[in-house]
Formats: sequence, structure tokens, C-alpha cells
Amino acid sequence: MRFDTVIRNATVVTATDSYRADVGVGGDRVSAIAAQLPADDAGRIIDATGLLLIPGGIDVHTHLDMPFGGTTSADDFETGTIAAAFGGTTTLIDFAIQYKGQSLRQAFDTWMKKAHDKAVTDYAFHCIITDLGSAQLEEMGQLIRDGVTSFKLFMAYPGVFMVDDQTIFRALKRTGTNGGLVCMHAENGGVIDELVKEALRRGDTAPKYHALTRPPRAEGEATGRAIALAELAGVPIYIVHLSAAHALEKVREARDMGLPAYAETCPQYLFLSYDNYEEPGFDGAKYVMSPPLREKWHQDVLWKGLAKNDLQVISTDHCPFCMAEQKELGKGDFSKIPNGAPGIETRLTLVHDGGVRPGRISMTRFVELCSTTPAKMFGLFPRKGTIAVGSDADIVVFDPEKSATLGVKTLHMKVDYNPYEGRSVKGSPAVVISGGQVIIDGDRFVGKKGSGRFLSRGPSQAPSGL
Ligand code: URP
Ligand code: ZN
Ligand code: ZN
Repeated sequence: MRFDTVIRNATVVTATDSYRADVGVGGDRVSAIAAQLPADDAGRIIDATGLLLIPGGIDVHTHLDMPFGGTTSADDFETGTIAAAFGGTTTLIDFAIQYKGQSLRQAFDTWMKKAHDKAVTDYAFHCIITDLGSAQLEEMGQLIRDGVTSFKLFMAYPGVFMVDDQTIFRALKRTGTNGGLVCMHAENGGVIDELVKEALRRGDTAPKYHALTRPPRAEGEATGRAIALAELAGVPIYIVHLSAAHALEKVREARDMGLPAYAETCPQYLFLSYDNYEEPGFDGAKYVMSPPLREKWHQDVLWKGLAKNDLQVISTDHCPFCMAEQKELGKGDFSKIPNGAPGIETRLTLVHDGGVRPGRISMTRFVELCSTTPAKMFGLFPRKGTIAVGSDADIVVFDPEKSATLGVKTLHMKVDYNPYEGRSVKGSPAVVISGGQVIIDGDRFVGKKGSGRFLSRGPSQAPSGL
């Protein structure tokens, strides 16, 4: 058997196992795994002695080239996927937005155009629904047949994305027959809107008031309500970017009752806190995102949730805006600061350094949270999310001892600050293979613009009991 690439002497880590093996790649797939593979006529040999082979990271929550808050997120599908690849992420699921009055198809077509000629890694889409008439309700089924099998709804951002409980319930009910999965932004938008108006009336305009007007209880309430609505509709639900103990408690309670409730958290909620909003001047704007960063004690609760599977996925919610000209839009009024922060490149290294190294989670759990469960949750497994014969050859040769200092100078995201500036971490990708091709070799990008493929996803495998 001839291989295009043989990776030798590796420790392969999947969600379940860690073992020594050689891995052979033929075309875009893994074609053999054995204790020793013949490599004499292989196109390329990679010696992975002392290194780990993990399935490419899957980031199921990104916003590339996204118009939001009067501006557009700073990374497009080229810069964003290159940065993702540097960080060991080889698949992402971005959000195609349906604006009011539009068909869902228009959203899908618009985001396909944004990604098609630019992405360097494989990609897929969720569809954000803001307007659900009977035509769009029917269209959900068509989108699912086209491989967009999940839909994000918002309980916050009134006047922009927020939909009411009746709309949420209709969408949830429909997924019971069309096989889709609803992803929920769970914060009580009405309460928050009132708190924001009160703060502005008082003259409290600094970035920290973004956090102080979005209390964790408002996230807990909405999370509980979303789960109740899903229970009433008799379908699973997936809570996005969960940040607070109050919300996790609702997910845990539901899961203990046997309900199919799932949730992701993001590195910013594990490593940053409300204290960041107290940084001098306007620097708190760097961390303006929704939900906001919480008091530090929530971090521990989230880590425990990850270890105990009350949380199943770590995504990034990568939504970068530069301080210059973008975050600055909210100088003098925190409610005008575009919501979001960069993170597509730093997820694996942060979770490895702060999760695996101190023993909060195992290396197999790391793979499960960052790749395998994301693939299963969103209908990509076993093509993605594992290293197995027949799976896509999306492989990260990960050096658990490689040190890095995070910062704008060393990272590749197209944004003028980094929330983790100066932080030292251990554990980074050495080589990244996407679809059988090496695209990151050390500190060089060697892939090709437009080589990423659209992934038509199947139904979520979540109801099988993740
Ligand atoms: O602040 C955030 N999270 N920005 C992106 C939009 C969203 O709600 O996910
Ligand atoms: Zn959201
Ligand atoms: Zn988001």
C-alpha cells in the first residue's frame, strides 16, 4: 500500500483512547493505522516522536465577515480560517444570518459566497433565524436537506435578532419533524434592555456597564425557559456560549431529569473574568461580548461542568472587532460597542494549557470537547472528529511541550488586540493537516486560499445521549 503521507511514531489521541501508532494518509482520508506502516515510497514522512496526533479541532461557533453593531467582524473566511488552522482547528461552523423579510435560502447563499473562494479549511453553516413566517418554517426542511441542519435563535438583542417565545416554540416544534437542532442564545433580552436604558439614563456609559446590565440571573432565566420550551416541544436543545453558573445549573437539572439539553462554553468564560472590564480607560471594550465575562468564581463551576459532561462542547464564538474604528464606536455609550472578541486561534492551546496540564480534564476529554462531540452534535461524525480509517485526514500533530506567548504579534487573527496578550501557554500545533494536505508547517501557512470545502451536514447525533 502506498501512502501520500505517513506519520510515524505518534501517540494517537481520540475521545476514547491514547496509543502508539503510525498513521497513513491516502488522498484526503486516513487510509491505515498500524503499529508500523511501510513508508519507503510515501510522498512525505512526518516523524511525530514525542508528539500527539489529535483529530483537527472543530469550532462550531464562529462569526466571520459578519455585519453586526454597525460594522463587520474583522476576520473574513480567508484570514479567519488561516488563523483557525494555526490554532489546530480544521473545521468550523459559521452562522448565516437571515434578516427580516428574507428567505432562509438567501442567508445560506450569501454566506456561501463569503466563504467559497476564501476558506482554507472545511466549513459548514448554521442558519440564524430572525423572521419565521410559514414560508420560512417550510424552508427549514429544505435547508436541512442542503446540509444546514441547525438553527440559531436569539432570546436577546431586541430589534436586531431577538424572537419571542411563540416563534421559538414554533421552530422547536418543527425540528421534531424535520430533524434539525435549535441552538439558543439564552439571555433575557427584555430585562437587559431595561437595565441598559436605566444605566445610560444614570450616565453609566463605560464598558463595564455592558456586563453590569447583563446579570448572570438573566442568562439563567433564559436558559431555563429555553429548556422548558424544548421540553414542551419534545425536542433536544443546544445552548450556545454558556457563561454563568446560573445557566449551567439549569442545564444540569434538565440533564439529571433525562432531558436532551446540551451546552457549549468558550475559553473566554474559562480564562477571563469581570475584572477585565475594570482595565483602565476604554480597554474594557476589548471584552464586550454577550453574554459578558462573569465574576471569577464561575470559572471553576464551568470547569467542573466540562469534566462531568454537563457541558459537552468548547467553541470560541470568535467575533473579532478592532479597538480602532470598531470597538471605538461605543466610546461614551457601552451599548454601541460591537459585541464580540477574537478566539478562533487560541482555543486548543488555552484549553490544553489551562485544562489538561493542571489536570482539570484529561487529554481524551480535551479531544472529545474540542473535536469529537462537536462533530457528533452537528452531524459531521465520523467523517470529522476522530482519527480512524476512512475519516477525513484532518490531523493535528500537537506538541504538548511547545511554549508560546499569546499576543497580536505572534497570532494571525486580523484584529488589533488580543484578550490574552502576554499570557504564556504550553502546548501548540506543530503540523496541521487538512483534507490530507499539510496546511501549517511550524510557523508557516502552506495551504491554499479557497481549498476549504463546504460540508453538507447530517442530523445531529445528540439524541443518542451525548
Ligand atoms: O458577543 C457576541 N457573542 N457576539 C457574537 C454574536 C453572538 O451572540 O453570538
Ligand atoms: Zn449569541
Ligand atoms: Zn456567537
